[in-house]
Amino acid sequence: MIFLCVASLIVYTVWRFRRKPNDHSAHEQPQVYGSNQIEVAWTVIPLLIVFVLIGVSARVIASVENASPPPSTLHITLVGHQWWWEVQYPGFHLVTANEIHVPTSPDGKTATYFRLESMDVIHSFWVPQLAGKTDLIPNRVNYTWIDPREAGIYLGNCAEYCGTQHANMLLRVIAQPQADFNAWTAAQQKDAMQNGSVAQGKQMFESLACVNCHTVRGTPAVGKFGPDLTHLMSRQTLGAGVLNNTHENLRNWVNDPQESKPGCFMPSMKLTDRELNEVVAYLESLH
Ligand code: CUA
Repeated sequence: MIFLCVASLIVYTVWRFRRKPNDHSAHEQPQVYGSNQIEVAWTVIPLLIVFVLIGVSARVIASVENASPPPSTLHITLVGHQWWWEVQYPGFHLVTANEIHVPTSPDGKTATYFRLESMDVIHSFWVPQLAGKTDLIPNRVNYTWIDPREAGIYLGNCAEYCGTQHANMLLRVIAQPQADFNAWTAAQQKDAMQNGSVAQGKQMFESLACVNCHTVRGTPAVGKFGPDLTHLMSRQTLGAGVLNNTHENLRNWVNDPQESKPGCFMPSMKLTDRELNEVVAYLESLH
């Protein structure tokens, strides 16, 4: 717009004051010099324009920064760990990992609001289809929000180098219609299922170091260092998205996590085949 104004004024001036073919006089047009009025005009007017623009921008920035989420917003606290995501739903008293269930927002009015924290180093939340990157920084809280319009699985990953398994710190947002989301939260809020047929595996699990890192709600396992396993079988993947959650993969994972995720903090417990089968059977009862 400004370019068009300036360019057309130049073109007009060049055309209007061009030398006419029959004008052979050598004298110049009168030159204007040292006019206070003109100097003041072209100093003060741009100055005023700049201040108006600053004011308008400041107002918009302030309204964006101070915007508070609508009361219907879902609040999630996402905590970055080396190399997995802890997903807390403070309003529902439930915790899960790596797979973030949220309601869809067909009219754009049911946003999900994230409080981003880190337990160790800097990570970065990135689900390209839903939002830009936002860092999870130790001793600091960042915020971001999403409002997926359509149901589906949106894949993401950690976008800030955070150690050897950074590339395997995957996450997925599972957007589902409000009714499905409500059903999911209701199921997740329950304590772990008790199943007598896997009592041996449960006992085995609870006698091992597993319980130092993992929580299974309603049992003596209350560790916080690794993902909550209360409803492990409701998740699609293992090891923060590294493996599909199948029997074979779960067995291999428990047998030796270092094979699929070298450098991760879950050690191989060196279980015998029988012990491994029992622990896996127990884990597979955690629906
Ligand atoms: Cu976490 Cu990269």
